[in-house]
Amino acid sequence: KRVILVGPPGSGKGTQSPIIKDEYCLCHLATGDMLRAAVAAKSPLGIKAKEAMDKGELVSDDLVVGIIDEALKKPSCQKGFILDGFPRTVVQAQKLDEMLENRGAKVDKVLNFAIDDAILEERITGRWIHPSSGRAYHTKFAPPKGPGVDDVTGEPLIQRKDDTAAVLKSRLEAFHKQTEPVIDYYNKKGIVANLPAEKPPQEVTADVKKALS
Ligand code: AP5
Ligand code: ZN
Repeated sequence: KRVILVGPPGSGKGTQSPIIKDEYCLCHLATGDMLRAAVAAKSPLGIKAKEAMDKGELVSDDLVVGIIDEALKKPSCQKGFILDGFPRTVVQAQKLDEMLENRGAKVDKVLNFAIDDAILEERITGRWIHPSSGRAYHTKFAPPKGPGVDDVTGEPLIQRKDDTAAVLKSRLEAFHKQTEPVIDYYNKKGIVANLPAEKPPQEVTADVKKALS
């Protein structure tokens, strides 16, 4: 299956995607994780992306379309994929359709993580991540087994630079202005499943599985 996860910052996309990936053996591409890795490595891509990311604005369409186009060539991504955080503008959605058309494929399902903005600040400011895997924890909702370390590797967890209440405001603004139209774009194709994302993680997982079955 070719699946897209859409939702505001903190809606649970990154929390659910590894579970979907394990279940359906798909390739998992998260543009935010890929961009953060580029920023950490100070690669030319990372240098271009950093300023917008720190401010909570979107990086340019060309930049992320290029990353996805390249990543979709991987053998593991030929049968299906989950895209987390892409497409985030209508232009990106159109470009994705073009890329897939050239490969004789199309998007099968869009999971829309629907949640009230008011819940997101607590989720975002309490999040800790394991940078190399992208695994997310939460001081209150999903604490790690050992304090401050990743359950799998034992490596230290960090907080994202854009996970402040102030930057969250810009990220939400970008979501409502630039990404909500993407949901309409896919609604017109009749492939959107709306998931109530304020439920506990296990219940969201059950809804995700139902939507994909
Ligand atoms: P990106 O990394 O995609 O960030 P985002 O969209 O803001 O989403 P988040 O990662 O914050 O939220 P999430 O839904 O994954 O939440 P999570 O599951 O971790 O993008 C970052 C930046 O990169 C952008 O601002 C932009 O600059 C750039 N960028 C990326 N893609 C781009 C693109 N396509 N075009 C242009 N620019 C792009 O959960 C959050 C917390 O809540 C965690 O602590 C988790 O443990 C907890 N939690 C999760 N689910 C639940 C639940 N059900 N109940 C309680 N707690 C929960
Ligand atoms: Zn995420």
